[in-house]
Amino acid sequence: MEINPGQRFFWGVATSAFQLEGSPYADWSAWDQTIGSYPDVTDHYHLYKSDLNLLKELGVNAYRFSLEWSRIKPEERAWNYDAFAHYQEVVDILRENDIEPFVTLHHFTHPRWFLEKHPWHEESSVARFLEFVEKVVSTLRGVRYWITFNEPYVLLLGGYIEGCMPPGKKDFPSAVRAFRNILVSHAEAYQLLRQGFSNASVGITHNMAVFAPCRGWNPVDRVLTRIAKSFYNYSLLDAFLTGRLKIRVPFKRPMTVELPIKGKLDFFGVNYYTRIHVRFNPFKNLGVELEYRDMDGNGLTDTGWEIYPDGLEKVLRYASRLNVPLFVTENGIATHDDREKMRFIQKHVEILERSRRNGLDIRGYFYWSLMDNYEWLRGFDSRFGLYRVDFDTLERKPTETAAYYSSLIRQKQ
Ligand code: FCB
Repeated sequence: MEINPGQRFFWGVATSAFQLEGSPYADWSAWDQTIGSYPDVTDHYHLYKSDLNLLKELGVNAYRFSLEWSRIKPEERAWNYDAFAHYQEVVDILRENDIEPFVTLHHFTHPRWFLEKHPWHEESSVARFLEFVEKVVSTLRGVRYWITFNEPYVLLLGGYIEGCMPPGKKDFPSAVRAFRNILVSHAEAYQLLRQGFSNASVGITHNMAVFAPCRGWNPVDRVLTRIAKSFYNYSLLDAFLTGRLKIRVPFKRPMTVELPIKGKLDFFGVNYYTRIHVRFNPFKNLGVELEYRDMDGNGLTDTGWEIYPDGLEKVLRYASRLNVPLFVTENGIATHDDREKMRFIQKHVEILERSRRNGLDIRGYFYWSLMDNYEWLRGFDSRFGLYRVDFDTLERKPTETAAYYSSLIRQKQ
């Protein structure tokens, strides 16, 4: 299928519903008590019209956002059609302004009833998620690009290995079941979306990183680095190529899970942020300790991540083995320093363009994020936004980087 007939390159920004809107019905609202003082986060759910104006101001031609499942289905047996009408209006406004919507169905959060009764390690999760997808397919109009899941590995490692995200488990067998159910859900959702919309293009986003050993001389660090790279970066790609997911994590018996996902992908979304150094530490989960080091003098971000622009081409090259169009569906920096933010974008866009010249089939770039938001485990102080948000007054103010990104992409369109 021709994904982008005019070959228009998409320059966009990315957000997720919960990080901008919060939701009283979402599992995360109960999970993270610190959200208490800002339950609506930026109140984007009500301020969406003026926020969508910011997209016009920036001059982006694409916008990636997600639907908040818990607003659409706050209770197990109740659909909220107002929420559908709301997201439809968002899509319509984007279309009126010639901004291509990229819609993510699942970006980390769930309705509370789902987490309580049908979490991903239970078989029943798949049917509950697909009900949601079916409803979306029969209700929402005007969307061509669909992302089924955002970063399933982050969700699974956080929710089932580290236990730092809902459902807060540290249990390998449950993790494997959840992996399976999520990827089966992707495959089924892929079918539903492709059947429901003749022009649909359906993908998934994957958090990818460059891995390096902390101590190059240490064979254990080196082996763990190889395992991290092949599991975290490659195993999902291979599963799309072969229909088999090889789960190989340190100190666990490797296993292979058969999955009906072979070829069920029209494009692949790469979320790239950093390089990670790996060290063996027997006291850590799976014997692995992760570090961020400022190896090339590019600095560390406010979230402590190494700035490593060259890594963008590396991960895109890994992803190109899928032979489908690629999008950089997230790339961004948390910093209070605007000059740092502009430098980050400039360098990553340079590498992006080099990668395209080197033959990689990349169709779009989405800066994370349009505006400051709720950054999961880190709360409210990670400033990824092109627009600065005061969480008390809800005022949005453009940063210098907004003007910079805007002029950069206007030149390139
Ligand atoms: C990604 C998430 C996104 C945001 C950025 C900083 O892993 O997809 O929601 O938190 O990191």
